[in-house]
Amino acid sequence: MSSTNGSTLCRVGVVVTLAGVISMAIMFSRFSPSRNCPPPPPKPKVNSVQNCAKSSNSVNDIAEKPIVLLWVWPENYRFDFSDCKKFYNIDNCHLTDDRGLYDEADNVIVYHRDIQWDLSNLPPSPRPPFQRWLWLHLESPTNTKRIPGLENLFNLTLSYRQDADIPVRMRLITSKKPNKDFVIPKKDKLVCWIVSNNDPSTGVDRRNDFFREFRKYIRVTLFGKAYARFLDYKDYYPTLASCKFYLAFENSIHKDYITEKINGPLAAGTVPVVLGPPRRNYENFVPAESFIHVDDFPDAKSLAEYLHQLDRDDNAYQQYFNWRKHLTPSPHLILQTQEFILAICTACDHVARHREYKEVHDLYDWYFR
Ligand SMILES: *[C@@H]1O[C@H](CO)[C@@H](O)[C@H](O)[C@H]1NC(C)=O
Repeated sequence: MSSTNGSTLCRVGVVVTLAGVISMAIMFSRFSPSRNCPPPPPKPKVNSVQNCAKSSNSVNDIAEKPIVLLWVWPENYRFDFSDCKKFYNIDNCHLTDDRGLYDEADNVIVYHRDIQWDLSNLPPSPRPPFQRWLWLHLESPTNTKRIPGLENLFNLTLSYRQDADIPVRMRLITSKKPNKDFVIPKKDKLVCWIVSNNDPSTGVDRRNDFFREFRKYIRVTLFGKAYARFLDYKDYYPTLASCKFYLAFENSIHKDYITEKINGPLAAGTVPVVLGPPRRNYENFVPAESFIHVDDFPDAKSLAEYLHQLDRDDNAYQQYFNWRKHLTPSPHLILQTQEFILAICTACDHVARHREYKEVHDLYDWYFR
């Protein structure tokens, strides 16, 4: 996403927001009992509102859509809630960061890393009886602090884990009608890797050990903060596309901890070489023949040899794209400030469809199991 693009989007955002505010203002002035409408009954029915005010769509929306209150902005990365509609066509809840709506909020999203150790910044108790609290956390257990006192507090978990109440993930989309033949982008690099985090405390030993050995046998083009070669956001997908292989190495190894690192190359038209949970786990989400797993080889040297071999054999390389005939990847959002948009929009969509009672008792028993 280029910066011009970014500022255009931003402007569009401002216009949309302004339009929203203005139409709300109009709506409320029309809705006001002192005008043409008879005074509304104590609990106005959506229909009577509709008959009265013409621009009733949003009144309707607010009346029916569950309110989802984002208690804090995760990592202070703010975005426009209309992004859920724009990027994922999700529009079935009323997202807000207005704590003034707490008493009416059907759901409250609490971001794990922003919870203070003494729990003093949690939403107030007692909570309204209908209200559900959502625990939002996207890091792996290796990178999760056990803040005490979070048992019997939440109703739904929102995580990359497949067994979370609300799993968050970019997915490949199936199509019945075959896609048109995929044209592999032009390649001028063999293996690429973008690494921003190299902090040993985050569990990166395994991938670093593997990489140290691997790079003895094959040329790897490195990008990212860790290598002082920062890649501009707008260059992310084109750069990935220009590499035959991309190292989608997770920082720590956990079940289902398969991040956007694999989605990037799949979306760009590059073959991901993955390091993470076992191959079988990957195959829950992406086809077996769409990626190469480091565990498929006895050591780094044989993996390097295999990649060299594929580099010489266009036909064999091509086979890694057959899955695209009936599956379509979608690029994920790449700005750092967009990190939580998918999770929050996924939550919005889920709570609009599921209103069942639910409690999370032993959060950590589940998470660290
Ligand atoms: C939410 O969970 C809490 C504690 O786990 C529980 O006391 C409360 O009744 C639940 N509320 C709903 C609406 O599910």
